[in-house]
Amino acid sequence: MAEIEVRDIRHVYDQGTSDETVAIERVNLTLKDGTANALLGPSGCGKTTLLQIISGLLQPTEGQILIDGEDVTDKPPEERDIAQVFQFPVIYDSMDVYDNLAFPLRNGGVPENEIDSRVQRISDLLELDDILHSSPSNLGPELNQLVALGRGIIRADTSAILFDEPMTDVEPSRKLTIRRRVKEAQQEFNITALYVTHDQHEALTFAEQVAIMRDGNLVQYDTGENLYQNPVNTFIGHFIGSPGMNLLDCTLSQKNGAPHAQLGPHSVPLKESLHPKLDLSWSDCQIGIRPSSVTVQVANPHDEADYAPAIVDQVEMVGGFQIITATLEDTDVEVKARVAHDFAIEKDASIWLSFPPDDIRFFHQQEAVGAA
Ligand SMILES: Nc1ncnc2c1ncn2[C@@H]1O[C@H](COP(=O)(O)OP(=O)(O)OP(=O)(O)O)[C@@H](O)[C@H]1O
Ligand SMILES: [Mg+2]
Repeated sequence: MAEIEVRDIRHVYDQGTSDETVAIERVNLTLKDGTANALLGPSGCGKTTLLQIISGLLQPTEGQILIDGEDVTDKPPEERDIAQVFQFPVIYDSMDVYDNLAFPLRNGGVPENEIDSRVQRISDLLELDDILHSSPSNLGPELNQLVALGRGIIRADTSAILFDEPMTDVEPSRKLTIRRRVKEAQQEFNITALYVTHDQHEALTFAEQVAIMRDGNLVQYDTGENLYQNPVNTFIGHFIGSPGMNLLDCTLSQKNGAPHAQLGPHSVPLKESLHPKLDLSWSDCQIGIRPSSVTVQVANPHDEADYAPAIVDQVEMVGGFQIITATLEDTDVEVKARVAHDFAIEKDASIWLSFPPDDIRFFHQQEAVGAA
């Protein structure tokens, strides 16, 4: 496998016409050899365009693609040795599963005995043994997608494998198993992988690092942990997590000699490391806090200073937790808080919320201020 570098790539469709579309503004990204990466972002942000530029199906308007340091921008797909698994698999119905898997190897002139051992290995890994001699036309979309995945993985000389939403046709309950098998193959063969999806859960379970795009730009390329804990801007804060980070409009005030975030009448203390980076004259400020970090009290807390009173608007059960939506008293600031499934709480209840300073992120003009 290989290292893939996307250098200063820009792509404009139909340049110079009235239909001109800037699909990629400017992207720089290096995928290290043997790593699992995901490319995540809203529909239309440029994911497929970037993938096709890496594989060579599309010639970029500007910039270069490097494989292990070699500029391959002008090379056609077949000279890049990049396998691509598409949203809708391309499987040959005239061949059985075995021959479909063997196809890229036969094409590459690999000797039959080696082909056989590689097909067996892929078949073991993806659990295709029972269907090796079946015709794809009888298998349904999900197994066909597995075969397509196997065919992508089987070539030992591949520089990288690009997956473009490969789970679209797979039943939700089976996605996890299939993704696990693909992940095992990725690790076993040390594959440099780029997995495109708009499902953050899929991205975060597959990849060591996730690249998040928006409007043709790469916004953050980072571990799941960092995307969650240290989003570079409000877009990532909101996009990652379910529900996303609370982003609460605030102003800055000086209280007891230290800057505080002001949510209407409520003063929220901020951690000391942030203090020197803040400017009390700023407007367009938000504090960000994960629903799981908000502390909820149903009884009036002793130390009221750290708590802001709120009224519960809504309680929903989401993925084994309850998500409370509450409005801070005397404001229209809405906060979501995550509590245990058996936490006794009802709509219209009075509660008290606090925001632990270490868990608060601060944003000025949508950008994160200070590292965590
Ligand atoms: N062949 C094309 N000709 C003109 N414009 C295109 C073409 N393909 C994509 N676009 C436009 O380029 C932008 C990026 O599209 P792209 O398909 O790369 O997004 P995507 O992130 O893969 O979206 P999705 O999640 O819906 O698959 C969009 O505005 C899209 O309409
Ligand atoms: Mg796409």
